[in-house]
Amino acid sequence: MQIITTKKQLSSIVAAIQAQNKSVGLVPTMGALHAGHASLVKRSVAENSVTFVSVFVNPTQFNNKEDLEKYPRNLQRDAELLQSIGADFVFAPSADEMYTKDEMNTVFEFDFGGLDQVMEGKYRPGHFNGVVQVVSKLFRLIQPTRAYFGEKDYQQLAIIHRMVHLMQLSVEIIDCPIVREESGLALSSRNERLSPAEKQQAVNISHILFESRQLKACQTVKQVESWVIEQVNRVEGLTVEYYEIVDQKTLQPVQDFSNAIGCITVYCGPVRLIDNIKY
Ligand code: PAF
Repeated sequence: MQIITTKKQLSSIVAAIQAQNKSVGLVPTMGALHAGHASLVKRSVAENSVTFVSVFVNPTQFNNKEDLEKYPRNLQRDAELLQSIGADFVFAPSADEMYTKDEMNTVFEFDFGGLDQVMEGKYRPGHFNGVVQVVSKLFRLIQPTRAYFGEKDYQQLAIIHRMVHLMQLSVEIIDCPIVREESGLALSSRNERLSPAEKQQAVNISHILFESRQLKACQTVKQVESWVIEQVNRVEGLTVEYYEIVDQKTLQPVQDFSNAIGCITVYCGPVRLIDNIKY
């Protein structure tokens, strides 16, 4: 496995791979890798001749400076994991290597068709502009045949699908299911910041989501939304930012549970956690 830190080095490697007509899988990440990332990488390794993993804490998608500063980073540990599961290349550029000054300082424009106005987009203004900026750049640099994303960031995935459609890119986006701890807690790099006590509290989020599935037979969408918010807020240490049951494609509010997904964001102490459940 080779670690690449410059675009120049990357472009010569990509050119050589393309000359051999090999299929390329890309797993974009911000590092602090866990078993959820590993499952994406393993799938890419199984489905492509070559697998790239990008490890880049993208500054343009953070609207909170403290969140960016506290985001866990450990390239050496990430590289060891990636090597052990068969990744071929790790692209780990610095912010200066990835972006010009202009790019860093201007908001990347994109027609989100309203997908950025709800949920994460509402609470993290500009976040998805940064995501589209970095992912479109990674796609341009690496030209993957397939790219792998986890369904935990469900809204991100919907936006990536729209981006690929609007930009008419040939990459195939592979949606990968949420990986959970045995306790039910959705795996996240942010879990590293939870104390053991906070982790115990956070486990309740998925339990309440799973339980809410039973209610759909006898309650309305609005009632289930309120029930989830109330139950989570009742757990000491947890505060719901939003829980919305929306259409799986448009992310707009729904009247019934067909093709519905419930997306939640919860503060567990200072740590912002997200999860979702399909009804
Ligand atoms: O999901 C993430 O980790 C990031 O948003 C991504 C897709 C790697 C872009 O920085």
